[in-house]
Amino acid sequence: KSTLPGVREQTLIAVKPDGVQRRLVGQIIQRFEQRGFKLVGMKMLQASEDLLSQHYSELRMKPFYPSLLRYMSSGPVVVMVWEGHNVVQTSRTMVGHTNPVEAPPGTVRGDFSIHVSRNVVHASDSPEGANREIQLWFQGKELLNWDCCDQTSTY
Ligand code: TYD
Ligand code: MG
Repeated sequence: KSTLPGVREQTLIAVKPDGVQRRLVGQIIQRFEQRGFKLVGMKMLQASEDLLSQHYSELRMKPFYPSLLRYMSSGPVVVMVWEGHNVVQTSRTMVGHTNPVEAPPGTVRGDFSIHVSRNVVHASDSPEGANREIQLWFQGKELLNWDCCDQTSTY
């Protein structure tokens, strides 16, 4: 097993309801797999208002907060935990700017969205935030620790 620092870093990635409805789940998973990250947890659920208000607690005073919660509860989401070296920062780069207008082609938001209120995907913005979000969305037993047959592909 690798002992490089940061190799076991984890982040929470969620395909939002618009991404599920537009059949983008597979393409989004493919990007994280091909980059070299490891999927350690995944489930589909209809998020409750309670869960979403905890997830977005830092944004509760923002003017867009009510519509954000309506959007996020408008259908099921696919939430995943991805693991690997610097996965938090690299995922943010892969996902692109919050506002798709600022997200370059090649990023998830830059390739699949045009408006901040329907930006397809969530990615944790710091290792601390990732740990908080993972504990919120997943039980410990839902995260699986598995080894690669090819150890060179673990990071
Ligand atoms: P934020 O955490 O700032 O962005 P990110 O998802 O990139 O971490 O905001 C959370 C979500 O809130 C964002 O993905 C979409 C929504 N949102 C709006 O609808 N309008 C806005 O002006 C902003 C900043 C965010
Ligand atoms: Mg955020």
